[in-house]
Amino acid sequence: MINLSLINTLTLEQKARLCVGMNFWMTQGYPEVDLPSLFMSDGPHGLRKQDLKASDHLGLNDSQSSVCYPTGSLAACSWDRELLFQLGDSLGQEAGQLGVDMLLGPAINIKRSPLCGRNFEYYSEDPYLAGQLAAAFVKGVQGNKVSACPKHFTANNQETRRKAVDTIVDERTLREIYLPAFEAALKEGGAWAVMSSYNKINGSYPAEHPHLATEILRGEWGFEGTYVTDWGAMDQIVPSIRAGLTLQMPGDGGNAAQKLIAAVENGSLAMADLDRAVAGLLYTLARVQGREKATTTSAAYHRLAYQIALESMVLLKNQAGILPLAPGARVGVVGEMAEKPRYQGSGSSHVNPYRLVCALEEMKAICPHLRYARGYADEVVTPAMAQEALQVAQDSDVVVVFAGLPASYESEAYDRTDMRMPDAHNRLIVELAQANPNLVVVLSNGSAVEMPWLAHARGVLEAYLGGEAGGAAVSDLLFGRANPCGKLAETFPVQLEDNPAYLNFPGEGDRVEYREGLFVGYRYYEKKNRPPAFAFGHGLSYTTFAYSDLALDRAEMDDTHTLTVRCRVKNTGDRAGKEIVQLYVRDLESPVIRPVKELKEFAKVSLAPGEEKEITFRLGRRAFAYYHTGLGDWHVHSGEYEICIAAAADDVRLSQVVQVRATVPLKVTVTRNTLLMDILADPILEAAFQPLYEGIKPYLPFNLNQKDIKTDKLARSMLNNMTLNSLASYVGSQLNDGVLEEIIRRLNAAQAS
Ligand code: BGC
Repeated sequence: MINLSLINTLTLEQKARLCVGMNFWMTQGYPEVDLPSLFMSDGPHGLRKQDLKASDHLGLNDSQSSVCYPTGSLAACSWDRELLFQLGDSLGQEAGQLGVDMLLGPAINIKRSPLCGRNFEYYSEDPYLAGQLAAAFVKGVQGNKVSACPKHFTANNQETRRKAVDTIVDERTLREIYLPAFEAALKEGGAWAVMSSYNKINGSYPAEHPHLATEILRGEWGFEGTYVTDWGAMDQIVPSIRAGLTLQMPGDGGNAAQKLIAAVENGSLAMADLDRAVAGLLYTLARVQGREKATTTSAAYHRLAYQIALESMVLLKNQAGILPLAPGARVGVVGEMAEKPRYQGSGSSHVNPYRLVCALEEMKAICPHLRYARGYADEVVTPAMAQEALQVAQDSDVVVVFAGLPASYESEAYDRTDMRMPDAHNRLIVELAQANPNLVVVLSNGSAVEMPWLAHARGVLEAYLGGEAGGAAVSDLLFGRANPCGKLAETFPVQLEDNPAYLNFPGEGDRVEYREGLFVGYRYYEKKNRPPAFAFGHGLSYTTFAYSDLALDRAEMDDTHTLTVRCRVKNTGDRAGKEIVQLYVRDLESPVIRPVKELKEFAKVSLAPGEEKEITFRLGRRAFAYYHTGLGDWHVHSGEYEICIAAAADDVRLSQVVQVRATVPLKVTVTRNTLLMDILADPILEAAFQPLYEGIKPYLPFNLNQKDIKTDKLARSMLNNMTLNSLASYVGSQLNDGVLEEIIRRLNAAQAS
């Protein structure tokens, strides 16, 4: 039994050593006091358990064979909490089978730019979607007494200079965009660990960040578990332990432990801080004891990998119903990626797969007569390859081209510099379309790409990096053995220059400023009215869905109430299918700058042909709130909010307005320099000001003394832009300092009462 009283039995040195890895993947253990080590392994979409003698965190050395699931960018397109739970559950089981106590995932950084080299591991540009999926994943892993470890906390959205770059981001943006996925993974998912990121944030490394680590993580969120550094992310161990860190990874031969011991001995680190760090590790260790080994086979995990790929791939375009491929059609397949799948990314998440399936073999099993041409080798097309591919296209009823980003284009440790696919792939698609317009493109890529050939393709299936069974999913979707039901978890802009981070990615030297603020992904494209190639939430099906009967359980509510939203969705086609229903909230009267609308709920619903189901969503306060930096809290203002039920961010099907009343009105602290518009906009202040105004009105210049500020537009506009102090300068001695102070006192008192 590991409990906190153990801390009292440990020596200073023992405690210090618990805060620093014993080796590349393990913490220090003390068998003499029944305290085991904690064994950690990557990663988010497959277990990467390595031999301790050949360990690395960059995916260079080998690892034990395990199932490679679709990477985060694909799995997130399932928008399916249950599926992410199953993914976490399987990974937790596999971890348990291999003696791994902590799985280093999920990876949930926000996709600020399509260029981030690790986007393939990450879920979404939207914090709510990322957070919900992360929470489900965490619950799945931890149900097996294996700790999850959401990473990388936080605002780690590029690889360029990742260990030195300072992310400059304002507080509201941090709270609304970069923190909520972690908040959900820790609070809703109940994660027992979290990993810091490499980059600095507003001047400090996150491991030693008083605001992020001490105030938010440990304070506001009440996180009690292990806060571990990313591998090699440690700057200074003593301030980090003081701020709330638990563990430096990997081990450093004892240097850091010596520093901790010296700091406690010389009084610069309180023993209580060291004890808190040890308590964090014990918290996690206690929860991973007493595991029973799962008996599930790798074959069963492989089937789940297939299922996740199937439920996540996104049918982006399907002109004139070119897909599914007609039975008996002469099918031509072009592209090396059909036989050599690009199914995962490089770096610490790299998995040694249990069994690798390629789309070409799967397609041949369904359509034995299909013709195949390699088309290119990596990113080179020779004249002979082009000729062979053209011949296949000409001899086929429909040609399916596999293309995308070669492995060298995206990875942990570097970013892309453009959003383009290889020229050879782009050219080949256009040339083949000229030979045969019935052309379908299957994309393999970890992040959004530009599609200069889009007009030439009748169908586009976004297969992302589908994991070891992705090839079977592609084949079944193309031939209609399954119905596509994934939707994009990120926007695909037409071109890189459209992306909001474009002007500030990856920053200058060791500084990247998030000047786009809240306007990440669809929040930006909508506000700027700049239609993307494919919107956030977009994804087609072989069937059709009709939305109806939106009903809110109330037309007016306090911000403390829960709003129940119901709507109906019907499968109006002749195939079974799944629809992802998205709920966005639009603030119609915002006093602050806000996105046009934001995702606040979603559901995936399975419908037989002709079947109709009712969907219920519940929205609490947070669904309407923005982060108010003055208050240091979430705030809902009184006003109208539109509830939008959508099939994609750019496809709102139903909407209705609800009137929300703030129960926490914002107080204006009135000073000499408060603008009258802020006084007149507040009902309490305006009521208090009106009689005072009557007193000074006779002394006002510009005929204002004739006017009633309630009804006269000019009078009101003139006054609006005056401060109390400037008003005094017009009124003269009737509004001397003493009178002014009294007015200010009365206005502030009116709000307090
Ligand atoms: C990565 C982490 C990973 C760690 C251990 C680092 O390079 O950023 O995501 O968990 O290595 O392999």
